[in-house]
Amino acid sequence: MEKIAFFDTKPYDKEWFDKINKNYEIRYLEGRLRPASVRLAEGCRAVCAFVNDDISAKTIELLAEQGVEVIAMRCSGFNNVDIAAAEGKLRIVRVPAYSPYAVAEHAMGLIISLNRKIHRAYNRTRDFNFSLNGLTGFDLYGKTAGIIGTGNIGRVFIDICRGFGMKVIAYDPYPAEGSGIEYVSTEEIFRNSDIISLHCPLTEQTRYIIDDKAISLMKSSALIVNTSRGKLIDSEALLRALNEKRIGGAALDVYEEESDLFFKDNSDSIVTDDVLSILVSRPNVLLTSHQAFLTEEALRGIAEVTLSNLDDFFAGRELKNEVKSKK
Ligand code: NAI
Repeated sequence: MEKIAFFDTKPYDKEWFDKINKNYEIRYLEGRLRPASVRLAEGCRAVCAFVNDDISAKTIELLAEQGVEVIAMRCSGFNNVDIAAAEGKLRIVRVPAYSPYAVAEHAMGLIISLNRKIHRAYNRTRDFNFSLNGLTGFDLYGKTAGIIGTGNIGRVFIDICRGFGMKVIAYDPYPAEGSGIEYVSTEEIFRNSDIISLHCPLTEQTRYIIDDKAISLMKSSALIVNTSRGKLIDSEALLRALNEKRIGGAALDVYEEESDLFFKDNSDSIVTDDVLSILVSRPNVLLTSHQAFLTEEALRGIAEVTLSNLDDFFAGRELKNEVKSKK
């Protein structure tokens, strides 16, 4: 039986991979994949990794030296993988689409909570504080949603927004033909949207797509929701805008410096990230810990596609979900 070294394992990963797996001996490891932990994959031809593993050129080189031939990403984003460095050394596969509904529904859940202050109401009522002061939101009906990235998740989110009676405008360098989506420039999105939702990958072009300049164009009541990747938003620029009331609020499922903090309990430590500490303390910021994907359907889909990607690799079949360098 081929062995897979499975990094950054969480109980829900193990539950779903154990349900679906028939062909592999899976070595579940709690730690992240990084140069120093590569040796834990000894004897494995395959490694399974996730969004915050460090799959830099150094990690890739060490894995390849040790006999690893394939890295199966159990996620769709691959901005943490040095694809060019992997070329000719080992193959990279991913799960291009699992439940887009999981992420899009979470994005809308965040917007509704942030707008209607449900997170604050929950805390108040647990303390028998039934005051409504400061909890006023606005109707989503008739408002404009600006969507950046109209791939699998962006399009589901658009349908949800339309279900709420919102007007939708979108930006994507590769518009979805025949979708009936109204495409505009990013500038028009920033100027005209009441909510702005990010559904594009993190690339050189999209890094800090929300920066001081973008925020300066937005309505002071606009809500930003980010369920894609943290580095799409310049967090310091966001904090400045929140401090100066130039933006209505932000709902973040991802954060640019999340890798050392998210997916684990830090409640007994002193978190020294001052930007994050101030953001979480703001009443108009709502943070979740990269959990938008976390539904049963998505976890099943991730396990199924990851294992079938590995089946294809070990059977020498074409890798339909391979990530390749564009160079
Ligand atoms: P997708 O590949 O189906 O769609 C991405 C879209 O972004 C494509 O239409 C592409 O043309 C567009 N795009 C590329 N460059 C762009 C640019 N410069 N500006 C605007 N749009 C651009 O990807 P999918 O499945 O919809 O996922 C979107 C993102 O969601 C992923 O890249 C990933 O970072 C994030 N994600 C987050 C999860 C979470 O748990 N928070 C879970 C799954 C994905």
